[in-house]
Amino acid sequence: MIEAISLSKHYGAFTAVDDLSFQVDAGQVLGFLGPNGAGKSTTMKMLTGFLSPSAGSARILGHDMQRDALAARRRIGYLPEGAPSYGEMTVQGFLAFVAQARELRGSAARQACAAAIERLQLGSVLQQPIETLSKGFKRRVGLAQAILHDPAVLILDEPTDGLDPNQKHEVRRLIQAMAADKIIVISTHILEEVEAVCNRAMIIARGRLLADDTPQGLIARSRYHNAVTLRLEGAEAAASQLSELPQVARAEISDGLLTVFPAAEGLFEAVSDAIGKHGWAVQELKLEAGRFDEVFRRITAGEEAA
Ligand SMILES: Nc1ncnc2c1ncn2[C@@H]1O[C@H](COP(=O)(O)OP(=O)(O)O)[C@@H](O)[C@H]1O
Ligand SMILES: [Mg+2]
Repeated sequence: MIEAISLSKHYGAFTAVDDLSFQVDAGQVLGFLGPNGAGKSTTMKMLTGFLSPSAGSARILGHDMQRDALAARRRIGYLPEGAPSYGEMTVQGFLAFVAQARELRGSAARQACAAAIERLQLGSVLQQPIETLSKGFKRRVGLAQAILHDPAVLILDEPTDGLDPNQKHEVRRLIQAMAADKIIVISTHILEEVEAVCNRAMIIARGRLLADDTPQGLIARSRYHNAVTLRLEGAEAAASQLSELPQVARAEISDGLLTVFPAAEGLFEAVSDAIGKHGWAVQELKLEAGRFDEVFRRITAGEEAA
C-alpha cells in the first residue's frame, strides 16, 4: 500500500501541498483531480522520492521514502509531467538504458523492453531520437519506461496529456488492464478520465484534500443527481405543469432543455406519466446520474491557485 502521512511542501512562504494524508491499497486506481496548480505533481514527486517533503512522510509498500528510498523506488514506476529527459537518445537506446538502471540484464532486459514497446506501440519509432518525436509518442515513451520493470506501484502524472482521442483510449485501456494487480495513482484534470479508469477520486485544490470518494459517489453529490431532463416543444408550459407534481422540487429551462429536480422518489415515473397524459412530443428524455463538472466546480470554487 501507499501511505502519505501529513505530507507538506512549502516554497518559501507558499504552501504547495498542505498536510495531505491518505492510503491507497492494492486494486485501487486513485485519481488526483484538481485545477492547475493544485499540488498534484508536487504530491506525486514526494510519493516517488523526487522531492523531499517539508514535513510528513511517504511509505511505499512499507518502505519509508526518506529512510529506505532505494527499496521504495524499486517498486515504483513513475511517469513525470512533461517529456522524458535524454531527448538525444533513441527510443530503443533509452529503454535499454532504463532497463539497465532497473537492474534488468540480458534476456530479462530484452523481454521487458519488447513487452513495453508492444504495449505502448512504439515499434515504428525505435530508432528515432526522443526529442524528434510528437508529443503523443513522447508520452508513450514515458509510459513505457514507467511500466518497464512491472512495478507494483504506478504513479502517472497526467498520463494522457497530449494524446489524441484514440491514444487516450488506448492508454486508459492499458491502465485498466494493469489495475488488477497494481496500485495506481494518476493525476488528471479530465473528469471523464476519472470516471473511465479510477475507482477512487481525490479532489485537491491549493494543496488540500477537499473530497475523497468513488467517482460515482462524487457524481451523486451533483444537484442533477436523479433529475430528469427533457427536450420537447412547449418547454415553458410543460415546466409549469410539471412543477405542480409532488415529486418535483423545481423546474429549470436552459439551452432549450427542461430539467426537473426531485423532491421525492419516483420522479422519472411521474414525468413519464405526465408526458403520456398531456401527449407532449418529447424528443429526448433522460434520468441524470449527476454532472461531474458541476460537482468539481462547486468543490473547488474559489480554490484556484493564484
Ligand atoms: N519549484 C517551485 N518553486 C515554487 N513554486 C512551485 C515550485 N514547484 C511548484 N510550485 C508551485 O506549487 C503549486 C503546485 O504545483 P503543482 O504541484 O505542479 O500543481 P498541479 O500539478 O496540481 O498543477 C503551483 O502553484 C506551482 O506554481
Ligand atoms: Mg501537474
